[in-house]
Amino acid sequence: MSQTLQIALLPGDGIGPEVTAAARRVMDRVAARVDLTLAWEEYPFGGAAIDATGQPFPESTRAACQSADAVFLGAIGGPQWDNLDPARRPETGLLALRKALGAFANLRPVQVPESLAHLSVLPPSRVSGTDLVVVRELTGGIYFGLPRQHTPEEAFDTMRYYAWEIDRIARVAFETARMRRGRVVSVDKANVLASSRLWRERVIERHTEAFSDVELSHMYVDNAAMQIVRDPRSFDVILTANLFGDILSDLSSTLAGSLGVLPSASLGGTTPLFEPVHGSAPELTGRNVANPVAAILSGAMLLDSANQPVAARIIRTCVDATLASGCMTVDLDPQGVPTDIFTEAVCREVDHIPDSTFTD
Ligand code: NAD
Ligand code: IPM
Ligand code: MN
Repeated sequence: MSQTLQIALLPGDGIGPEVTAAARRVMDRVAARVDLTLAWEEYPFGGAAIDATGQPFPESTRAACQSADAVFLGAIGGPQWDNLDPARRPETGLLALRKALGAFANLRPVQVPESLAHLSVLPPSRVSGTDLVVVRELTGGIYFGLPRQHTPEEAFDTMRYYAWEIDRIARVAFETARMRRGRVVSVDKANVLASSRLWRERVIERHTEAFSDVELSHMYVDNAAMQIVRDPRSFDVILTANLFGDILSDLSSTLAGSLGVLPSASLGGTTPLFEPVHGSAPELTGRNVANPVAAILSGAMLLDSANQPVAARIIRTCVDATLASGCMTVDLDPQGVPTDIFTEAVCREVDHIPDSTFTD
């Protein structure tokens, strides 16, 4: 049946516009092959919105995001906005967007198929076959906890978790594990932090109550950082709080070879949000060198969540085939190709997929 998806596009800052343009190109190419219309509408967000309107997350952008089927974000931030009052920084706009959408569950998958293991920062023999997902709590914890203060003499933040916030992200992790290999490692700092002790109690309670078929274990975050590098294949689902998930997901990008390849989906609210794990990479901006894979694969996650699994699978297959053929951007290979050449190579892979695949 024919479907139209209204996508609110927030290119943002730095390499955001370049990587979202690439993803849009690939997604439109696939959509043309299935009975799908992608209705893109672009809105100002982040530093670009500050320059245009004075606000990182203008009211008109908020309204458009809330009424769209999905929000597709590039990246925000950059040195030119770093010294603004915190309330008006691009990053504050991003947190407000996640909160406004109620997108509390941030899924950040990391896959290293054998054919791409040579791209890793680590020896291929160690990472080949890695398939994990970080389930990061996204609208609570130290990012949002009050009080918060910064004076010249003293500064503090508050890492606060409510039981219901832990319960709902734990359920997402357990449900995610059921669709995968059935294992959750909950990562915390319960040996030191009160918020982590409540975290562990509630995760155990939710597990006992309704998910005892899933294998649950616990790990302190410092050890988890080490184990992810030492034995990445031992992980299936990593359930963790906002700050720990932020750090562990960037760390995990070394398994795949570059931060430029990790996608994410932020779910659980009124409108799902899709964004690369990486930031605006100011030093790469405007040079046609950014890796668009994270954005393209975020597009695949969007299509999956919009019940277009065939289109999503084709995007993943075409990205993997392009990389496996040796075509990649310079973050993965110093001899690599520019962003637009890589993107066109992915589009050509899409063109080569036989029609029968699309009607599966
Ligand atoms: P970053 O993710 O922009 O860059 C970190 C490193 O990864 C840099 O070496 C960069 O060149 C590289 N990198 C990132 N994306 C890449 C890509 N697609 N292709 C090739 N290389 C890539 O993080 P940062 O430098 O710490 O922060 C820069 C700005 O981005 C800051 O203003 C920060 O607040 C913001 N930021 C935004 C988001 C977001 O919008 N979701 C995420 C992280 C950081
Ligand atoms: C990310 C980013 C953001 C975060 C920043 C820019 C607010 O690092 O999406 O990972 O910390 O969540
Ligand atoms: Mn981050």
